[in-house]
Amino acid sequence: MIRGSSEENVLLFVSGVKKYFPIYGGIRGIKGFVKAVDDVTFTVREGESLGIVGETGCGKTTLGRTLLHLIRATEGETYFDVPKEELARIMELEQKEKDIKEELARIMELEQKGKNVGDDMESANARYKEVTKELAPLRRKYSLNRQGPRHMLKHRKNFQPVFQDPFSSLDPRKLVKDIIGEPMKILLKMNREEIMKREKELIDEIGLSEDHLFRFPHEFSGGQRQRIGIARAISIEPKMLVLDEPTSALDVSVQAQILNILRDLQNRRGLSFIFISHHLNVIRMMSDRVAVMYLGKIVELADTERLFSDVLHPYTKALLSAIPIPDPETKVSRIVLEGEIPNPSDPPRGCHFHPRCPVAMSNCGWSPRDLAEPLRTMLNPTRNAEASDITGVEEIESDEDMNTVELLFREDVPVGQKELDIIRSLVEKETLLKTGTVFKAIKEVSLNPERNAVHVEMSEYDTPGLKEVRRGHFVSCLLYNYNYFDRESPEGSAQGEPAYTPYQSGR
Ligand SMILES: Nc1ncnc2c1ncn2[C@@H]1O[C@H](COP(=O)(O)OP(=O)(O)O)[C@@H](O)[C@H]1O
Ligand code: SF4
Ligand SMILES: [Mg+2]
Repeated sequence: MIRGSSEENVLLFVSGVKKYFPIYGGIRGIKGFVKAVDDVTFTVREGESLGIVGETGCGKTTLGRTLLHLIRATEGETYFDVPKEELARIMELEQKEKDIKEELARIMELEQKGKNVGDDMESANARYKEVTKELAPLRRKYSLNRQGPRHMLKHRKNFQPVFQDPFSSLDPRKLVKDIIGEPMKILLKMNREEIMKREKELIDEIGLSEDHLFRFPHEFSGGQRQRIGIARAISIEPKMLVLDEPTSALDVSVQAQILNILRDLQNRRGLSFIFISHHLNVIRMMSDRVAVMYLGKIVELADTERLFSDVLHPYTKALLSAIPIPDPETKVSRIVLEGEIPNPSDPPRGCHFHPRCPVAMSNCGWSPRDLAEPLRTMLNPTRNAEASDITGVEEIESDEDMNTVELLFREDVPVGQKELDIIRSLVEKETLLKTGTVFKAIKEVSLNPERNAVHVEMSEYDTPGLKEVRRGHFVSCLLYNYNYFDRESPEGSAQGEPAYTPYQSGR
């Protein structure tokens, strides 16, 4: 996603960052991982505000905490304030490494299918080695994820957090002057007089008065406490603030005041922001660019105005359509997001969004577990009269690894051609319905006499990756699965503009 975008004055470059939390249990101790942040790449320029938005649980806070190095990334690199030329080379190499990794994954897939891939594999491996040889020392030198605690302390002063909850993030036993003064004392080693002088300026800048410095946090309202949190964060003149839902715990009227303070600060001091919120209106007001997250991944990233006027990803469209519109005359067709957010320890395959996507296609990642319930419904005679001839289905068994579903019949009901024909025709009928996309992902329906079952095999699927589909506009969706800069073919062809743009009339 770095390729081709205008990447001037990049202050922060985050490359392939992952944060997986282990889930303990089972025989081996760890039975799985919550993939809270899963391969996230983006840049933030000097003075820029990048908004990060998505439903609760999509990984925004974890991403923020990982960037602040409050928790350790499982994988990936964070480059902050790296000299220009070296950063350009690093970005190129990180991109190259990603491309070769993808290529290797494709080659291995072909190998598993029995294709002879010897030469391709060798060439890709050689290129991979070459890239990592040059990249490794640059990573050691510049990636924050590879630095020891001492180096991190030095960096901490460039990178300050503002948290959601001003109640719990301020130490209740300390005077405000000590709370605000702490980073200056620890990170800048300033003396008491210097600190007090700076504090007086800061307290004025955030709209409180000098005598407030000598009070305790509990003497303040929520909004005032957040002002104190902000004063503390900017006290050491960081280059970037990571703001995690900084106004979500406040009353609406107070929210606007805090947002205004933050915007003024940013303009005056040229600060960069990573602004995290689940509120699209707040994100729109506070961000120059927006990254939309879903289940640990960025699914769309674009300039704020572009994102709100020319939204491409079906998930973002659904999010946008859910914003209340103050003017009742404005007609908006609401896209209701069906179903719950899936569990990030076991995300749907292919496109993570496919079970909820209103325009999902047959190759978006449907799996046996998506099909079991629809098959059960299909066999309900009140839905399909023909299904009354299918009696004796005792169990519907899905096997994710084999990519199959089996309809197991009772022993006393031998399954034969008649059952197979009826089930095939019912499946055919379902594919014609609006809800029938999952049935379109069926490759073959056959008999399995050994198990007295009807055997359903599902098709292979595709996985979208974040691609730059228009200049500076990145989308991870199979409807737009091409790169702007690779596009040469004419419209309507596989590489051209998508023939079908969902919800064009939606907003
Ligand atoms: N310390 C942790 N241990 C295990 N799982 C966690 C931890 N912190 C967050 N998670 C999980 O990671 C996912 C993302 O959470 P979070 O980053 O808080 O999302 P958001 O801020 O977008 O609401 C959630 O499924 C959450 O339950
Ligand atoms: S790839 Fe696009 S169309 Fe397919 S499910 Fe995902 S968001 Fe929907
Ligand atoms: Mg959060």
